[in-house]
Amino acid sequence: MPLAKDLDAFFVANQIRALDELFDLLRIPSVSARSEHDADTARAADWVARSLRTIGFTATVHPTKGHPVVVGEWRKAASGAPTVLIYGHYDVQPAEPLDLWQSPPFEPTVRDGKIFARGSVDDKGQLFLHIKALEAHLNARGTLPVNVIVLAEGEEEVGSEHLAAFIESHTDLLACDSVVISDSAMFAPGLPSILSSLRGLAYFQIEVQGPATDLHSGSYGGSVLNPAMALARILATMHDANGHIAIPGFYDDVRDWGPEARRQIRALPFDDEHFRAETGAPSLFGEQGYSTLERLWMRPTCEVNGLLSGYTGEGAKTVLPAKAMAKVSCRLVPDQQPDRVEQLMRAHVARVAPPGVTVTVRQLHGGMPWRADLAGPLFDAARRALATAFDREPVITGEGGSIPVVGDFQRMLKAPVLLVGFGLPGENAHAPNEWMSEENFVKGMRAMAALWDELGHNGARAS
Ligand code: BES
Ligand code: MN
Ligand code: MN
Repeated sequence: MPLAKDLDAFFVANQIRALDELFDLLRIPSVSARSEHDADTARAADWVARSLRTIGFTATVHPTKGHPVVVGEWRKAASGAPTVLIYGHYDVQPAEPLDLWQSPPFEPTVRDGKIFARGSVDDKGQLFLHIKALEAHLNARGTLPVNVIVLAEGEEEVGSEHLAAFIESHTDLLACDSVVISDSAMFAPGLPSILSSLRGLAYFQIEVQGPATDLHSGSYGGSVLNPAMALARILATMHDANGHIAIPGFYDDVRDWGPEARRQIRALPFDDEHFRAETGAPSLFGEQGYSTLERLWMRPTCEVNGLLSGYTGEGAKTVLPAKAMAKVSCRLVPDQQPDRVEQLMRAHVARVAPPGVTVTVRQLHGGMPWRADLAGPLFDAARRALATAFDREPVITGEGGSIPVVGDFQRMLKAPVLLVGFGLPGENAHAPNEWMSEENFVKGMRAMAALWDELGHNGARAS
């Protein structure tokens, strides 16, 4: 079914303004990880609240111990209409390294149909396309076929520390029949996608303390254990040569997805060599016995995210470092739990840590993995809406990344979650030169506007 004529006309007439407004949001460096950007992050929250008020929502900026949560509401749909909650995040990753950006990260620039800016696709563009889809309904018709809550947080990129408590203490405000999130990517250009899984996360900092201060590596080298070497040895125990994680018990809770899920994954149009070329790595590597997509979606990982020790500046310095540090994170799959993985990691590190150094493990944050069977009116409506906007039936995909709040929504609000993303492979999220496809921004608005028509007319109420 084509998009309703009045909505179509609104989008055609207002596309340039929608992009201009998005660019305003993209100019705000709302880097949640950096306290020097706290005022910018607060400004982005206010900006989102204001844009919701402009289209006819009420909006409140709720302070938290971290960055604020914005809640917008429009509850004037006909009685019996379902209530949907749209979630997104207005915070972004740090832009560094700055010298690798072809245009400044907070000065949105369009090249080749791509909107380059930090946060363009993750997640400001995808959050804002929802606001503009809602605007189309309210402007063209003065009403919406569904009641809508918009929940935008500013701590997603740093682990959503305060969001679960916020949801828990506002379950009445946030009560809904469905949750819709656009914070992921389509499987391929032109191919709309609905996510059926996300990996979880358990993120650790491992610190190794040797001598009380740095030492002359000639006067002391060989007499005390070098903490950098000790850390390297600890990290080297985490996998076997086949890419299998060697932490005892690590796979105990990993659910087997079964042959049907693996068949569905194999049916997707995916080319290893194309994927390899995109990464720039000399070859692909991963756990034996699994395809690349299986490794990414249904198998856990244990990765070093950062390493720090000793002298790393220009030239040579003969020093025996006092300490070494690694950031290590595990992507988790159903039914692994971050707290259980933390116990296993601690026990393993304690077992393999060599004598002569003090090793500590801290968990920085964790998030549950998620997997759902996409049955019910919400997903049927989404399939039709995506087909309307993209002229193509959507595919069901998995995801290797994490959106920890998805599990919280399902548990605390007891509503099904639709994950429908409009990013694209190669979008450089979290990396220099992040971009969002202008075409997907436009089609995303249209798809979501179509979704509200589909849902409004076809029910999908929880009770
Ligand atoms: N939008 C991403 C999640 C994502 C990543 C979806 C890749 C689809 C593909 C989100 O903003 C993100 O970066 N999540 C973090 C979570 C972490 C900070 C708790 C991630 O996956 O590293
Ligand atoms: Mn995101
Ligand atoms: Mn992100």
